[in-house]
Parts: sequence; C-alpha cells; structure tokens
Amino acid sequence: SNPAAADNAPAGAPVLPDAAHEPDAPAIIRRKDYTPFPWRVPEVRLAFDLGIESTRVEATLSVEPNPQAGAASAIRLDGDGLVLESVAVDGEPRDDWQRDGEALVVPLSSGPHTLTIVTRIAPAENTQLMGLYASGGMLCTQCEAEGFRRITFFPDRPDVLSVYTVRMEADAQAFPVLLSNGNPVEEGQLEGGRHFAEWHDPWPKPSYLFALVAGDLVARRDSFTTMGGREVELGVWVREADLSRTEHAMESIKRSMKWDEETYGREYDLDRFNIVAVGDFNMGAMENKGLNIFNTKYVLADEETATDADFDAIEGVIGHEYFHNWSGNRITCRDWFQLSLKEGFTVLRDQTFSEDLHGAAVKRIGDVRMLRSVQFPEDSGPFAHPIRPDSYKEISNFYTATIYNKGAEVIRMMRSMAGLEAFRKGSDLYFERHDGEAATCEDFVKAMEDGAGLDLTQFRRWYEQAGTPQVTVEQHHEGDRVTLTLAQVVPATPGQPDKLPVPIPLKIALFDREAGTHSGEQLIVLTQESQDFTFDGHAKPPVLSINRNFTAPVAIERDIAREDLVFLAAHDDDAFARHEAMQELLLGYLLGDGDEAAREAIGTAAGAILADDALDHEMRAELLGLPTFAYLAERSEVFDPGAMVDKREGLKTWLGETFAGRFAQLHDSLAEPSRAAGMAGKQARRMRSVALAYLAAADPADGAKRGLAQYRDAPGMTDRQGALAVLAGLDGPERDEALADFYSRFADNALVIDKWFTLQASALREDVLGQIEQLARHQAFTMSNPNRVRALYAAAAGNPLAFHAADGTGYRMIADLILELNLRNPQLAARFVPSLGRFRRIEPKRAAMMRAELERIAGAGKLSRDVAEQVEASLG
Ligand code: ARG
Ligand code: ZN
Repeated sequence: SNPAAADNAPAGAPVLPDAAHEPDAPAIIRRKDYTPFPWRVPEVRLAFDLGIESTRVEATLSVEPNPQAGAASAIRLDGDGLVLESVAVDGEPRDDWQRDGEALVVPLSSGPHTLTIVTRIAPAENTQLMGLYASGGMLCTQCEAEGFRRITFFPDRPDVLSVYTVRMEADAQAFPVLLSNGNPVEEGQLEGGRHFAEWHDPWPKPSYLFALVAGDLVARRDSFTTMGGREVELGVWVREADLSRTEHAMESIKRSMKWDEETYGREYDLDRFNIVAVGDFNMGAMENKGLNIFNTKYVLADEETATDADFDAIEGVIGHEYFHNWSGNRITCRDWFQLSLKEGFTVLRDQTFSEDLHGAAVKRIGDVRMLRSVQFPEDSGPFAHPIRPDSYKEISNFYTATIYNKGAEVIRMMRSMAGLEAFRKGSDLYFERHDGEAATCEDFVKAMEDGAGLDLTQFRRWYEQAGTPQVTVEQHHEGDRVTLTLAQVVPATPGQPDKLPVPIPLKIALFDREAGTHSGEQLIVLTQESQDFTFDGHAKPPVLSINRNFTAPVAIERDIAREDLVFLAAHDDDAFARHEAMQELLLGYLLGDGDEAAREAIGTAAGAILADDALDHEMRAELLGLPTFAYLAERSEVFDPGAMVDKREGLKTWLGETFAGRFAQLHDSLAEPSRAAGMAGKQARRMRSVALAYLAAADPADGAKRGLAQYRDAPGMTDRQGALAVLAGLDGPERDEALADFYSRFADNALVIDKWFTLQASALREDVLGQIEQLARHQAFTMSNPNRVRALYAAAAGNPLAFHAADGTGYRMIADLILELNLRNPQLAARFVPSLGRFRRIEPKRAAMMRAELERIAGAGKLSRDVAEQVEASLG
C-alpha cells in the first residue's frame, strides 16, 4: 500500500486496490506494448500561485477522444507526490475520481470536456530536482523525462501534444522575473506586493518541454535576425553577480542559430529565445521550448574562471539544446524508447557544429576518447542496451552514453555512407515529413532511406543490438594485389545472446611506405561475418590505415607491425588515424608485457611528433596523450588498477626523461598572453600544460617549480588549472601554496571551487583516498548540490588509486554515497552505480569487494527505482 498517496486523498475517496501502489518490484515498461493515449489534450492552461514553500497549481485541460485510439470511459492522469485539492469537469466539481497508486483516474463520457485540477506542491522539499524546485532562492523546473507529473496530474508522455498558456503569480520582490515557454503576452502588478505574467507557446508540445522560472535574475540581451527575417529577442538570465560571465553564452546562441540555418536549413520559430542558468541541476541542460534551462557550468565563463575546454563545452551544450528546437521539439519522440531519435541526432549536430567552428580533428579525437572511455565500457558491461532499448524500469537510467553518443555515431555512419549532400536530403525529408509529430527511430531511418537514397534494411540492426562490434583485419599481399580479410563479431550482451552482423562502413587508405603517400581514401562496407576486399596496383605490401576519422563505432583488432604503426603515427594524413596509430603503440606497451622494443617504438614515434613543425601544438599535445584508465580497463581481460597506474606513470616518466630538453623548451617558449591570442593561443596553452606534466613526471622537483611559476603567472584559468593538475599530484610547499591560493582566490565562485575539489580528488597519489575523505568534511562540501557531489565523487570514482584502493575502502565510500543519495536524489545516486557494476573486469580480490558493496546496497531497504534498476542489472 502507499500511505503517502492515501494521505493526499480527501476522506471518502476510494483508493484502488492495485499492485501499482509502489510495488516491491517496479514494473517493466516494454517498447512493444506501446498504445496511443485514448485522449487528445489540444490545450492546457496553467495558473501558478508561486511560493518556495508552497505552490498552488490550477491546470485546465481541454480534452477530447483520440480518434487514433480505442474509446475510453475515464482519463488516467500521471501524478507523483502531488497533493490534490479539487477536480472539476466542465466547470462542475467532481468527487467520483479514483487514485490508482500515484495516478488520478477521472470518469469521463465521450466527447470534448474541460478538466480543471488544483494541486499543491512544495518546491523547497523537492530534493530530487525533478518537477518544480527551488535553487538559491529561485524557482525552476526540470520535466524531462517524467517530472511534469510532479507539478500537476497529466498524461505525462511525449506523444500527447498541447498548446500551453501559463500564468504565474508571485511576490514581486522575491520573484521579479517570471518566465515560461513561448512568447510573453501580459504582465502586471497585483495587490499585496504581488505581480503576474502570462506566456503563450503557440507550438504544440509534450509536457516534458514545459518550463517555468521565477527569480531575482538579470539578463544579457541581444537579438538575432533569422534567414526568414524574423527578429528574435535573445536573453541569457543569471544572478546579477554572474552577468559579466555571459558574453560567451550569448555569442554561442547566435552561432548556433546561424549554423543550423546554413547546415540544416532550420530556422527559429518564436519571437523570444531565453536561457537561464541554475546552480542546482541534475544534468547539463534542458531544451524546453523557447526557455532552455542550463546548469551554470554550461553558461558562465570568462578567461579568469573558465578553461578553454570549459568555453568549448559551453558552446557545444548551448548548440545542443538550441538544435533540439527542431530535432526534439518540432519533431519529438513517440515514447521514451525513441530517446535516441532526438538525442543521438542532436549530439551529432552539436559535434559537427563544433567541428565546423574550430576544426574537426581535435574535436573528433576527443569525442572518440569519451566514447571509448564511457560508452564502450557501458556496452560491454551489465547495463548494455541498444540505442533503442526494448524495456526499462526507470527511464532516467537511459540518459546514457549509448543513447546519446553511440546514437550519434550510428547517424554519423549514415552520413558517411550517404555523403553530405544526400544526407542533407534525408534530413530535409525527415523534418518536412514529421514536423509537428511525435516520431520514432524507424521514421528517421525511413526518411533517410527515401531522402538520401540509402538501403538501410540491414543497418536497422544497429538500433536493435547492443554491444560494440569487434572487427579483425588480416592483410595478404600477392603479386600486386592486396587482400583484406575482415571479420566481425557482435558480442553477446545481457538478454541478447545471439547477434547478427551489422554493416560497418570503414574509410581506409593504403600507404606506399617509401613515398609516404596513398592513392586515395575509399569507403568499404563490411556487411558479412567475414568478407574479402581486394585492391590491385600495389607492387609492395602497403601500410593500411583503417577506420579513418572513426567512421564506425567498432573495436579493431589487427596484426600490424610496430614499424607500420610508427610510420602511420608520423605520416598518416588523417588526423584521427594518426592519433590512433600512436594510441595503438601505447596500448600495445601498456597492455602487453612491457618489453623494451615496444617502448622504443613509442619513443621513435613521440620523437617524430615532437619534431614535426607542420603540426599545430594542440594536435601535438593530443598525439602525446596517454590512453585513459577507463579505456585501458576496457581493453584489459582482467584489470589490475594498481599495476596499471605504476606502468602508465612509469611510461610518462620515461617519456619525460627521454624528451626533457624538448619539453622544457616547449614549456619555456609557449607562454601565451590570453584568449585574445585566438586559436594559436589555445593551442599553445594545451601543449604547455602537457609539457609540464611530462617534465614533472621525470623530475618532480623541477616540475613543482615550473608548476608554481605557471600557476602564479597564469593569465587565465587554462594555465592555472593545468599547473594545479600537475601540482596536485606532487608533494611540497609549491602544491600547498597553489591549492591554498586557488581556494581563497575563488572562494565565492562555486564552479571554480568545484574544480578545486576535482583537482585534488583526481590526483594520482597514494594518500588520495584520505584526502577525499577530508574534502568530504570540508565546509564547502555539500550533498545537496549535484555539481559539488560530482566534483568530488565522480572524480574519486574515476581515480584508480582512490576507487580501487586495495583494502576496498574506495568501494565502500561510493556505496555509502549511493545509499545517502538514494532517496534524496535518485537520479544522481544511480549515476554512481555503474562504476561498482564493472567488477567482472577487475582482478578477483577487488571484484569480490565491489560485488559485496552492490549486495549491501541491494539489501539496504527501500531503494529508489533508479538505484534498484542499476543495482539489479549490475548484479546480473
Ligand atoms: N534532454 C536533455 C538534453 O539532452 C537532457 C535532460 C535529461 N534530464 C533528466 N533529468 N533525465 O539536453
Ligand atoms: Zn539532448
């Protein structure tokens, strides 16, 4: 039974005796069970009487039978934690409604009706940060995926589209700014120091795109004239103290609008576009129609407080949310199994936006690094799911790297196979055909087939199957013919023991080793389990460059001579492939038995990269980056964290010693004044901090001196953070001075203090776990701010010396964290489960302790649906 729901029901209201009352085992929702909602809700009127402690919501819904669905004698409205005050139908008070668990069921005769429902909610008590909640004195909303039902009773599903009119009433002093979706229609003063504002959004939308903001905010304002001549007023809303850090966000909005017009022919469709920065936010940002709400982390930046990487991330996320206006809002999802329809496509759009603006090579390398460090482990672990899942218990758990980033890779493959021009025809057709609809992944694929002229019959398996395909490559040479024998295996994943081959498009080039060139890039598509590809005209065995620019999200296993990798690392004209050759050399050494020849080959390649004057410094730094621990773990049969840290750090030291002179010269010469220096400055800053890291690995005393000097003279956060990242791993007065200075210098800036936590929690030092425990007791630490929790604990969970401490205390710490956040903020709590869930890939002693912590969570009593689903999946 559900006492909370019963408490909300007025006396006498019947409560359905139904298993849906918080059942012990949460229901499994299945894709194949989709049925349309029996009612349409063409119009919604919301009237808010806003207060931090208590908010009254009057919802007026016009409803009519849905001709696409069977007849119904009642309407079932989702709810979550609502206090119901009254129900009326066509103006008549009603008490014949029933509660079905958290849902509200109102008997309705056929024909159109007006439903008026009054509920009361308590924003200040909303620690889940879903629905209407308070953050630093302001009120804001997060409704995707199922937060709207925490505001009012409603068919909270993405295929019910309504036109919203929103009236907000609030104290004028506490909440001088009242924003909602669409365009403003009216505002005015009321008695008792109160005021109101009314907004109207003419575009029908699902409830997850509803948004409201009330607070003491100021705006940076600007405008944009669309290609069709519409004048759009732009606003970036923040607390007054943050206004000076909004220029980059505003410029990013304008660049996004322009890019989407030029690249996809998509124009903005309202008179207003507002974004609001909120300090407490579970995710990155949210694409609510006309009123995007952002984590402050993805809005606020100036040179003093934000790194070059922060600036790029802000531009990328602003682009992402803006691009959703078409890929997500004008065309939304039929159900949440289709989430990748909007997220995969929109990630592709934001990635290529950034590539177009700042160069494709470094962006692509970074995106692939993230895919391999986060999505590959997900795809080979207990929570592996297809980009279009077949079932879920809690949809919040499916905002994953698979849905987002693998989803983007799948659409990128279509783009590679079609070519840019045909791909645009496909996207044009998709936007035209489905505008105003709640669509499916299948609709997108079909539009691509029809518009781009692709046959995607077999390709649809990419939507159905989980797991990263493994491709093996063998190369034979006879006469002047080269034969490549390619074979693929899609590994078994939970619930999917047998897999079928998928089409794998691979860009390749065959290099003439002597000439250092190739005769042209080609695209081959591996469709069978095993397939031969032949190439004539090669008198000598060529050097194969494969999966150039990472055309397919697969793992490639090939027998290639070390000299050939050294050759590609020095000569490949595809930047990604060049980087990949270097990574293969590094992985070969780090995952192998560490022989001298493998290390020498790395030295030869690194020497060539350091000497290559044609390289820009950012690409040089990128080429010299070591594989992440997450990817090293992914590529290991059985991962021994302690041993890998020693080996990876040892390699860093060796490279630092071997090239000490060159690194010192780079570190001395690349001091750049500021962001005003543009691209070259950014490139120099990147290389400079990488040089510092190698120098410090080779000679910690010299590293500490150089680090402190770089810290003190830093013109901005990029150099300062780069120095501090190195210093945090060292010992001595330089470290202490820099960390203390950093804290006091930025004590009033939450985003920078987040960095202070992360830098220390990420340090590869033996005593790091003790330091993390101390940081958790620091006065600036709080469990109620998701950014702060992530700053400390996501860093801890990703630090092999902290998380994988040999005595298991790191695992216990993360399990305690999950239990503490479990009910307070289930979404945030659940995000920490997968690190424990990876135990099958860790050496047996540690694996047993990880498993034991998962079992401790499983047995700890009432778990949120989010945590329960993740823990169950992890334990298999
Ligand atoms: N649609 C948002 C984005 O990708 C993500 C929102 C997800 N929020 C959540 N609480 N699950 O930009
Ligand atoms: Zn998104």
